[in-house]
Amino acid sequence: MHTRFPGFQGLTSPVTELAFPLAFLFFFSCTRKTSPVIPETCSTRVDFQQCVQPIFNAHCVGCHGNNGGLSLRSGEALQNLVGIPSRCDPGMLRVRPGDPEQSLLYLKITDAPGKCGSRMPPTGSALTDQEITLIQNWIQSL
Ligand code: HEC
Repeated sequence: MHTRFPGFQGLTSPVTELAFPLAFLFFFSCTRKTSPVIPETCSTRVDFQQCVQPIFNAHCVGCHGNNGGLSLRSGEALQNLVGIPSRCDPGMLRVRPGDPEQSLLYLKITDAPGKCGSRMPPTGSALTDQEITLIQNWIQSL
């Protein structure tokens, strides 16, 4: 009497009933937290699309997507960051070209004292040193 998936009648033991949701959860919990693979060339030349956007895709767009706030999605992140005043600290730019220390984006990913609001990402682990250095180099190169 435990035929919850009528299409899988031969398979409905408690084990197989759990296997599908578990595999699903496992897949997502892994892919969501994995750092992106950064191309080798990023250590010499930080191309925004190749080197920085994948970091946003992996760690930021879940919140900074299509909800009316700061969008960090591909094709939108750059124009929403560079030279744009911050919402939570209007005296500061999100990204000040050439100056990571005066860029709210950088202060937030390094959890610097004096930033407004929370560290980014606010939940889960911080960006790796490699990811932070890439973003720092990118801002410096602007
Ligand atoms: C869990 C949801 C969440 C995630 C994930 C997240 N953010 Fe945020 N972010 C927020 C919220 C909420 C705010 C507004 C409050 C604040 O500034 O602390 C914010 C604010 C910001 C701001 C300031 C915008 C402004 O104009 O003041 C920046 C920059 C930022 N996030 C960058 C990032 C980056 C880069 C990542 C990925 C490394 C990231 N965030 C991941 C929720 C998130």
